[in-house]
Amino acid sequence: MGKVYVFDHPLIQHKLTHIRDVQTGTKDFRELVDEVATLMAFEITRDLPMEEIDLKTPVSETKGKILSGKKLAIVPILRAGIGMVDGILKMIPAAKVGHVGLYRDPETLKPIEYYVKLPSDVEERDFILVDPMLATGGSAVEAINSLKKRGAKNIKFLCLVAAPEGVEEIKKEHDDVDIYIAALDEKLNEKGYIVPGLGDAGDRLFGTK
Ligand code: PRP
Ligand code: URA
Repeated sequence: MGKVYVFDHPLIQHKLTHIRDVQTGTKDFRELVDEVATLMAFEITRDLPMEEIDLKTPVSETKGKILSGKKLAIVPILRAGIGMVDGILKMIPAAKVGHVGLYRDPETLKPIEYYVKLPSDVEERDFILVDPMLATGGSAVEAINSLKKRGAKNIKFLCLVAAPEGVEEIKKEHDDVDIYIAALDEKLNEKGYIVPGLGDAGDRLFGTK
């Protein structure tokens, strides 16, 4: 059964408040999303396996722990997920990066897939799927379908702001996927936007409208 983690770390919450603020421009928005992604990566890598090695410090022989080389892949959902990739790579620079391109049809709110490229050894990797927004959940569910169809078995979903509807949709369709959220918001509005949310994440990141 997948778990839902909502991060209440003060640094994450502080930065998220500025991300939400309509006065925050593209440059600051981008930098803040990058910083929050780094902080969230720190939290979601808590359970990475470790191994013990022998080493010498300048003073004595000792043992130390290192990551045991688990293969990871980060997969942003295009476009907005791109804004979180570099922040995560700062913590796990050896991870491979795949891409899933989806956009939400503005009328039906259904996701439309237009691009998929994943590392070739899909079955050996653990996946961190990233998108700042989890609204109806349609895009995340479709992206998870896409990863699973290609052989991915272990998938975590990481987002900044989620609506309860989106969390329920992932739990219903993919109850093996753990969900990591910076803030669980109140609801969706009639246009499928998260309330209070942060607006259109892709447009705010890339300065489009
Ligand atoms: C946004 C967001 C998610 C999706 C969430 O992308 O980045 O991918 O909407 O909505 P859902 O949970 O209801 O599917 P959008 O479709 O606006 O595409 P973009 O990133 O290219 O702007
Ligand atoms: N996509 C966004 O970018 N923002 C929302 O609030 C919902 C979907």
